[in-house]
Amino acid sequence: MDMRTICDDVFWLGAIDWERQLFDALVPLPEGTSYNAYLVRGNTKTALLDTVEPDMVDVLLNQLRDVERIDYVVVHHAEQDHSGSLPVILEKYPDAKVVTSAKCLPLLRDLYPVDPARCVLVKDGDTLDLGGRTLEFIFTPWVHWPETMVSYLREDGVLFTCDFFGSHLATSDLFAHDRPRVYDAARRYYAQIMMPFRSHITKHLERLAPLKARVICPSHGPVFDDAAFIMDAYRDWVIGEPKKQVVIPYVSMHHSTKQMVDMLVAELAQRNIPVQPFEMTVTDIGRLAAALVDASTVVMATPTVLNGAHPNVAYAAFLVNLLKPKTKYLSVIGSLGWGGKVVEQLAAMLPNLNVEMLSPVLVKGVPGPEARTALAALAQTIADKHQPV
Ligand code: FEO
Repeated sequence: MDMRTICDDVFWLGAIDWERQLFDALVPLPEGTSYNAYLVRGNTKTALLDTVEPDMVDVLLNQLRDVERIDYVVVHHAEQDHSGSLPVILEKYPDAKVVTSAKCLPLLRDLYPVDPARCVLVKDGDTLDLGGRTLEFIFTPWVHWPETMVSYLREDGVLFTCDFFGSHLATSDLFAHDRPRVYDAARRYYAQIMMPFRSHITKHLERLAPLKARVICPSHGPVFDDAAFIMDAYRDWVIGEPKKQVVIPYVSMHHSTKQMVDMLVAELAQRNIPVQPFEMTVTDIGRLAAALVDASTVVMATPTVLNGAHPNVAYAAFLVNLLKPKTKYLSVIGSLGWGGKVVEQLAAMLPNLNVEMLSPVLVKGVPGPEARTALAALAQTIADKHQPV
C-alpha cells in the first residue's frame, strides 16, 4: 500500500500486518494489526512520525521511495514496533535528526546505537517549526511506557498519539468509518494495554480535551477523522461507571463447576443481568479483557486443585489483577472434593482491585438443589448491588 493522504501535506504510511496473531507473546490479535507512521510536510521541513516493526521496514522504504529529504524523525515511544526501523531510516536520510524526549532517548539507545548528536530533545510543550506548520509535543507518560508522548499539528488540528487511542486492527480502511468494528477493536486494545494506567489516562484526556483535535492518528489501526468518537469512548471506558454486567472466568474438571456456572448464568439471566462466562482453557484472553472494561462484577469459578484454584483460573485472577478494571464486586464459586483454600487464595491474588467480596458458593462434589438455591441468592445479591444507591 502506498502513502495515503489524511489532509493537505499530512500522510499515512506504515505496514499492515494482516496475519500477526500474537503481540508481546501475550496479546491475541484476531484481526491482525498495523504499524502506522505519518509524514508531515511544512514549507521548509519534513517530519516522519514514528516508523514500523523492523521486519516490515521494506514496506516503509517503498512508501518513501520518492521522498528525497526527511529533516526530522519524531519518536513518540521507544517500543520496537514503532522505533524498530529507525536505524534503517536514519541510514537512508543521513541528515535527519531524531526528535524525542530525554526520557525516551536512553530507552532507544538501549535498543539501537542512536547517536545523541543526531537527536533534538524536546520538553513537554515544546514546538517544532516545519514552516507554516507547527508540531507541539505533549508528554503523556504511562500510555503505556514511562516515556510516551503525543504531538499536535496545530494548524490542521491533527493529534498523533502513537499507542494511545490505537486498535489492533488490520484493515484497508484509512479512516475509522466502520464504527462498530473499530469500537470493539479499540476497546479490546484499551483493555489489554491501557486499562492498567487508567489514572494516568484520565489526566491525559483532561489535558488533550482543550485542543479540540479534529483528527487522531494512532500508530495501530485506522485514523479517527472524527476525534470525538474515540475520545468519548475513552472517557466512558476510563471514568464512566461500570455497567451492570457480570464476567465469569471458569474451568471445570468433571462438569460440577460448569453446572454451577450454568446455574448462575441462568439465575442472572432471569434477573436480566448480562453475563459472560469464559472457559479459561480455551478462551481468547483479549475477549475476557474487553469484557472486564465494563463489568461491575467478576465471579471466579473453579474446582479445587491441590488445595487451591485451578491454575487456569489462577491465571485469570493474575490477569484481572494486572489489568485493574473498574470492577466493584467479586465472588468465587466452585466444586471441591474434600477441602481447600480457593477463596483465600484468589482474594489474595487480587490486591489491585478495590472490590467488595460477595459470599462465595462452594459445594462438595456434584451441585444439587442447595447449590441452585445458593447461586440464586448470589445472583440476587448481585442484582441488588447493581441497583443505583
Ligand atoms: Fe505499539 Fe507500545 O507499542
